[in-house]
Amino acid sequence: MKQITRAAELTAAIEKAKAQGLEIGLVPTMGALHEGHLSLIERATRENDLVVVSLFVNPIQFNNKEDLAKYPRTIEADLALIGTLPQARATEVLAFTPTVEEMYPDGEPTEVYHFGPVEEVMEGPRRPGHFSGVAVVVRRLFDLAQPRRAYFGEKDYQQIAVIRALLEQIKYPIELVACPIVRADDGLALSSRNMRLSPAARAMAPAINATLEQAAEMAEYEDVDDVKEWVLDTLASFHEVNPQPDGLRFEPEYFEVVDADTLQPIDDWDDAGEHGAVGCIAVWLDGVRLIDIVKF
Ligand code: PAJ
Repeated sequence: MKQITRAAELTAAIEKAKAQGLEIGLVPTMGALHEGHLSLIERATRENDLVVVSLFVNPIQFNNKEDLAKYPRTIEADLALIGTLPQARATEVLAFTPTVEEMYPDGEPTEVYHFGPVEEVMEGPRRPGHFSGVAVVVRRLFDLAQPRRAYFGEKDYQQIAVIRALLEQIKYPIELVACPIVRADDGLALSSRNMRLSPAARAMAPAINATLEQAAEMAEYEDVDDVKEWVLDTLASFHEVNPQPDGLRFEPEYFEVVDADTLQPIDDWDDAGEHGAVGCIAVWLDGVRLIDIVKF
């Protein structure tokens, strides 16, 4: 593993790799790595000759200043974690850790991306500018790393649809590899934001996944609307059924049942296309916004 902080140095390494005909895999992250990120990196090292892992807290995708300020930054531990991975076929892992000035030398980028329907639901309207900010940084990373494959996690399900739309727009021949969610033993989807949960909140958080799993069973015999209502009610009233310290409670922001590809809400299970339906949720707990998905 080699750490690179300068864009020019990354470009030089990529040029050299390309000249040798190496296949490059890119894993974009914001650091604070956990097993979810590592599963992407591990897969990338199995499928490519050179892997670029970017660790960059991208300010322009945060619509909430407090979230940006509180986002965990653990670069040294991250680099150590990457170093523990078996490197499979990959000749090398490059950990790209630019500063904001290195990533955006001309100041905050002004380019804006629009993706139509896939960004007009769920996270889109609730986090204005978020997906455009993601697209700007991911495109910049594509330009720098020139990957054959790019790896994204299904935890950020809508982000994958947005990156797919980005690739169609910019027509880069990059294979988008969607990787399954990695969960803690108790079912909580791993997230860098989990480390901001108090112990009591961390103990409560697995109820999100447990509720979604029950919803998947209900979907066998209940209508979409009833399942949606049940999920929201179950989480919103969780603290009444299971009394919590310090007024701890779930505050669901949304739960949508959407087509797995178009991300458009469906009213009837039969309206889902070839890849079925997905339930996507955002829930506030202990001042932390958690997201998760379930496949129906
Ligand atoms: P970040 O939240 O660090 O996530 C980096 C990648 O890891 C994303 O593709 C995300 O979906 C994936 N990931 C996170 N938790 C996961 C889990 N529990 N299981 C599987 N994959 C998981 O997503 C971003 O960063 C940024 O938006 C980024 C794409 C890097 C652009 O700044």
